[in-house]
Amino acid sequence: MTHRIHRDVYHALIVGLMKGNLIMWQRFTERARRVVFFAQEEAGRLGENYVSTEHLLMGLIREEDTVSSRILGHIGISLEHIRREIERHATLGGGRRGQDTQLTPSATRVIDLAYDEARQLSNNHIGTEHLLLGLIREGEGLAGRVLAEAGVTLERVREEVVRLQETDPCIEPMSDLEKAVAQALAQTVPKSEQDTHIQLLQQRIEADAAGWRKKSVLTLFDISAAQIRAVLDVAAGLKKYDLARQKSLYWAYPRTLALLFEKPSLRTRVSFEVSMAHLQGQAIYLAPGDVGLGTREAVPDVAEALARWVDIIAARVFEHETIEELAANSSIPVINALSDREHPIQAFADLLTLEEQKGTLGNNLKLAYIGDGNNVLNALLLACAKMGVHCTAACPEGYLPNSRYIAEAHRIGQETGARIELLVDPAAAVAGADAVYTDVWASMGQESEKESRSQIFAPYQINTELMHHAKPDAIVLHCLPAHRGEEVSADIMAQHRTVVFDQAENRLHTQKALLVLILGL
Ligand code: CP
Ligand code: NVA
Repeated sequence: MTHRIHRDVYHALIVGLMKGNLIMWQRFTERARRVVFFAQEEAGRLGENYVSTEHLLMGLIREEDTVSSRILGHIGISLEHIRREIERHATLGGGRRGQDTQLTPSATRVIDLAYDEARQLSNNHIGTEHLLLGLIREGEGLAGRVLAEAGVTLERVREEVVRLQETDPCIEPMSDLEKAVAQALAQTVPKSEQDTHIQLLQQRIEADAAGWRKKSVLTLFDISAAQIRAVLDVAAGLKKYDLARQKSLYWAYPRTLALLFEKPSLRTRVSFEVSMAHLQGQAIYLAPGDVGLGTREAVPDVAEALARWVDIIAARVFEHETIEELAANSSIPVINALSDREHPIQAFADLLTLEEQKGTLGNNLKLAYIGDGNNVLNALLLACAKMGVHCTAACPEGYLPNSRYIAEAHRIGQETGARIELLVDPAAAVAGADAVYTDVWASMGQESEKESRSQIFAPYQINTELMHHAKPDAIVLHCLPAHRGEEVSADIMAQHRTVVFDQAENRLHTQKALLVLILGL
């Protein structure tokens, strides 16, 4: 049975439902969109005001000629049985049909997982087959349980998807518009084109026109716009083709990186270690307390000793002067992996995420930062100014970023057209923003101020009310870790988490790019 629904009607409904996920929505095939619409209808029929996993599964099996239904058929699952099981377990809600329907967190997760499955399969489109995989992977909702009880496994369905795609790479019918969008978003290319791309990327790294070789990254004061552009382009190339993992781009002999950390870390440590593994190098992690930097041993001696063994150091320090002292006393490049003054490598990932989401970087974009004028904001001010992105920050009085960074960002903004503004009012800062960024109110080393800061910063939370001042398609960025209920509300984090975790993922690609640009191939 094929239902024809007026395109604009369900597009509008589902755009509301998918909230901030328009980029993802653009990749949905006609059939997958219809599944979400049907799920909304099923929820309404059962008197629910939310769309949960069981409604998605009902929507998924409503039409027998979708890829997902075909796959279930191929692996011997009766759609009628699934339908009966869902009907047997589904609860009846008290809501009225069509009133404020929203996705439950588990249904949102299904959509995110469908996106991830499509990405892993290098598919530009998100089809019913990906939604089915998302439902199985989510697992905890009613749909996942019914599918598991019926004997549907992730491995079996993945195998079936791959088998079907080998005969027809776009097995879900797409309209002309969708085909054009998918083409524009194309992430897979023919092998020959990929080979050309690898060669161009290798040439770009080897030619080093931006002057990255053997350079330290202590502060963005010392990094040019051309150097930032090189990191972003190489990172995007590495990400697009996953070159290091395909063993198409890696070091001929292993390089070594010392990770010298005075403070905790998840993202910075793991993204550097994984970068080194992908490039077939080796990272050596030195935890806070392992070395006794400046206590057990003088900073210059640590720098000089490390330089005798490893090729590059990334250090996370309390005082920015420590990173300067390390660099001044070592013959190898040193990367600032966060100091009390600046977090430059975070800014590379932030820019890549902004560019991915908005298509370009430049005077067309406004980023609003809300909260503490800390190391992350210092770096962002310079990064945005250099790339021509308008940057407005709202910070409480007494918590402004470093005045040297403000002055330098203003100076650079004169040349690049970036408007740099420091305000106190968060709503004014967010007005018309394309991206709204925040970070914790008390940074590492400021734990004793946590209480007093939470009072002072209370009006600086990114929440639904504040987001109303931004553009409707504004993204939310957070360097993480996030403290829900403090600098960002839990619902805003939930709504924007795909992009926030893209941003975390981009730490890997940008740092891998940085390593190959600094050390060469
Ligand atoms: N954003 C960031 O640097 O995270 P970690 O502190 O976990 O490294
Ligand atoms: N401003 C935070 C950033 C953490 C990545 C801190 O320094 O703790």
